[in-house]
Amino acid sequence: MSNSIESLLKESRVFPPDEEFSAHAHIRSLEQYRALYEKSIHEPEAFWGEIASSLHWFAEPRRVLEEDPPRARWFVGGTTNISYNCLDRHLPTLRRNKAAILWEGEGGDTRVLTYQQLHRETCRFANVLRKLGVRAGDRVAIYMGMVPEIAVAMLACARIGAVHTVIFGGFAAEAVRDRVNDSKASLIVTCDGAVRRGQLVPLKAVVDKAIVDCPTVRHTVVFKRTGERVDMEPGRDHYWHEVIEAVGASAPPLPVDSEHPLFILYTSGTTGKPKGVVHTTGGYMVGTYVTSKYVFDLHENDTYFCTADVGWITGHSYIVYGPLSNGATVVMYEGAPNFPDPGRLWQICERWGVTIFYTAPTAIRAFMRWGEQWPMKADLSSLRLLGSVGEPINPEAWMWYQRVIGNARCPVVDTWWQTETGAIMISPLPGATPTKPGSATLPFFGIEAEVVRRDGSRCAPNEGGFLVIRRPWPSMMRTIYGDDERFQRQYFNEIANVYFTGDGARRDEDGYIWLMGRVDDVVNVSGHRLGTAEIESALVSHRAVAEAAVVGRPDEIKGQSLVCFVTLRPGNVASKALKTQLAEHVAQEIGRFARPDAIRFADALPKTRSGKIMRRLLKDIAAGGDTKGDVTTLEDLSVLATLRQSDDD
Ligand code: WT7
Repeated sequence: MSNSIESLLKESRVFPPDEEFSAHAHIRSLEQYRALYEKSIHEPEAFWGEIASSLHWFAEPRRVLEEDPPRARWFVGGTTNISYNCLDRHLPTLRRNKAAILWEGEGGDTRVLTYQQLHRETCRFANVLRKLGVRAGDRVAIYMGMVPEIAVAMLACARIGAVHTVIFGGFAAEAVRDRVNDSKASLIVTCDGAVRRGQLVPLKAVVDKAIVDCPTVRHTVVFKRTGERVDMEPGRDHYWHEVIEAVGASAPPLPVDSEHPLFILYTSGTTGKPKGVVHTTGGYMVGTYVTSKYVFDLHENDTYFCTADVGWITGHSYIVYGPLSNGATVVMYEGAPNFPDPGRLWQICERWGVTIFYTAPTAIRAFMRWGEQWPMKADLSSLRLLGSVGEPINPEAWMWYQRVIGNARCPVVDTWWQTETGAIMISPLPGATPTKPGSATLPFFGIEAEVVRRDGSRCAPNEGGFLVIRRPWPSMMRTIYGDDERFQRQYFNEIANVYFTGDGARRDEDGYIWLMGRVDDVVNVSGHRLGTAEIESALVSHRAVAEAAVVGRPDEIKGQSLVCFVTLRPGNVASKALKTQLAEHVAQEIGRFARPDAIRFADALPKTRSGKIMRRLLKDIAAGGDTKGDVTTLEDLSVLATLRQSDDD
């Protein structure tokens, strides 16, 4: 029993791909998917070599893959440059004057950068970096809001072989300091400020506070966004618009080895100390390129909008590198999704004619709470594909997304992946894969995903277990910066000879994968090991519930008892009667043994800044203790205080 996780929810709806959609898709049928998948697994070198050859290499790779378990090197001997592939490669084509970035500020101001313009800005900023002493291999921290210049800064680093580490603009000074010091960055690119919900966020002031304890930093470059007054230390701090004037617009890209590091990204850290996940150039480029193309079925005239922040891996892979290496048009929005009102994202979709929309379940549940009237006000007829990422999407939210946003005619791709995997790993292909609400469906090409027991043996169909990946893939992380020992231990020692994802999952009789949440969050009630995601999903399927988080609390009799934190949809009142109803509802949906022991109503749940519920903190609260460990990734500290005051009965 302790080997596996019990899976309890059954979902039987199936949505076959739309014929019209399939007819124009890159991958048009399940048979085509399966044939290509087989090839990708049995002849990985031929498969990946062919995809890599759609991109530009200064020197062709000698070998596609060299394994040295648990490590792998991809496109060995090849030299390339991802900024060249995202920009220069498009300039001799009609894409030269195509919009690369359609940007919308929170206040409604807009900017359009064509590929040619984005190339020029990137070249100039690359020259600025060189002038300030940045060399290949040096680390550059980027702490900015969502302005086009954040992409320019990343591409400029890549152009000269510098390693960027983007720090999400919502982090406070201590978090910035720790990340800058861990990466030993020599330069920080920032903004005077950012705009969020109509308020100014003083980014440069945060940098000033952090930098006092950052001995490696020699320069900052400050992009003027808000125009507020900032302190500039002569010789150290430079305004972007000034230094950019002093350099030329020609900057040849540096050909770098395929395994040259491209960036370090610190993971959101729902547990413990943040890890600097290292990605390298060639494999990451090929992985993000091909997944963008097939999962989002990108075509030349698409307008693609991903609501993530560039400060997370989703923004790196699916706002910047994946779409731009495909020559796509990307919508980038600066501000909050509900500013000035909850219809904002739908107005953006209408204004720019968005065809592909990619967001997170936490956002979808917020849209549900805000109400259908907001999307109904906008013309969403340009949409043709919807995506989800970041957490298990409960069937309820999936159905709402499909019906209300997609008007029941857009395929929904639930994409499973991680900061560590660099690119999408498990996902439907919209023209090929029949979807089941709540399942990320089937592995992407080249990805051998399996659900196993602790001892590594394969689980039977529908038996819950650990999600692992059996063989290397191009965009996999290469190490944890400065802590290779932790890299090996955390990902390759848990279960022998495979990459351990840390997620629980089951595979159904059709081979479809259903994610059940992080295995650290598994709760053991009277010998039943339950994934929190399923109980949460059962709660959210009740009409009164907007969002739920379930954790275990030590219990003398049962081992652990279930404590549920619940936020309600508008119009519902927290009451004892409702608690009983919800507990009964879970017992009905899952079984009596899973009947929650306590339900607590809350106005908000503690989330990381990327929207993941921090169950670790809820566990501490449920156990009646103080919250321990790192809270720098928490979005809103006041949520904790309120939750401590909520009670059980
Ligand atoms: C963890 C990775 C990958 C970009 C954003 C998050 C969870 C992610 C799904 C999904 C179920 C998902 C997993 C994973 N997760 N996507 N479609 N279904 N769970 O990146 O912060 O590195 O988090 O997010 O638990 O391990 P991240």
